[in-house]
Amino acid sequence: MKIAVDGPAGAGKSTISKEVAKKLGIIYIDTGAMYRAIGLAAVRHGIDTADAEGVKSILGEVEVSISHEGGVQQIFLNGENVSEEIRLPEISVAASNVATIPEVRLKLVELQRRLAASCDVIMDGRDIGTYVLPDAELKIFLTASVEERAKRRLRELLEKGVDTDFESVRADMEYRDKNDSGREFAPLKAAEDSIILDNTSLTAEESAEEICRLAHDRGEVAQK
Ligand code: DC
Repeated sequence: MKIAVDGPAGAGKSTISKEVAKKLGIIYIDTGAMYRAIGLAAVRHGIDTADAEGVKSILGEVEVSISHEGGVQQIFLNGENVSEEIRLPEISVAASNVATIPEVRLKLVELQRRLAASCDVIMDGRDIGTYVLPDAELKIFLTASVEERAKRRLRELLEKGVDTDFESVRADMEYRDKNDSGREFAPLKAAEDSIILDNTSLTAEESAEEICRLAHDRGEVAQK
């Protein structure tokens, strides 16, 4: 089974998808981490991530790969584990910027499809149901109010010791929402055949249970 989970930043995609993967015994693939790795590479090269030509000029020397350790995805940039560093707020914005560049997307989509071809997965991102895995058996569009999403992301960042505040987290989030939904190539949008799950007032556990229930239903349909 392939499960696609899309939605805006802070909707809880990764927490919930990880939980679903554990419950169903399938692999969780976080595609945002891949865009973050390329954003990080550009920042390290001193490239303005809004400069598409600059970002494209380093793509040939950027290799992104993943592995799973104890069920947790690790992300590598040219062999270096950058799983921690990519979570910094400036890398969120860099990722959103490089993700508007078609050449970046095509490079990563190829990797994402290859990974999904080899096993049962739950994959999260912005274009999984619409572009990466259009044949996924179950497509979820996960969303929540911008206040709730900013609150969740702030909590996460503070727990990691990042020095930030609600207003800057919310501003970054609104910038990314606009950038991710407004780009031309594979923008963030709900697939026509997706199920929209607004989890503003649900816990991560409740959302994960709902997705597992839907997955079991789809599984039965597929077997008939
Ligand atoms: O899911 P995330 O916040 O880690 O993603 C970081 C950025 O990467 C996000 O703002 C948009 C981009 N992204 C994308 O364009 N397509 C995906 N499938 C995943 C992420």
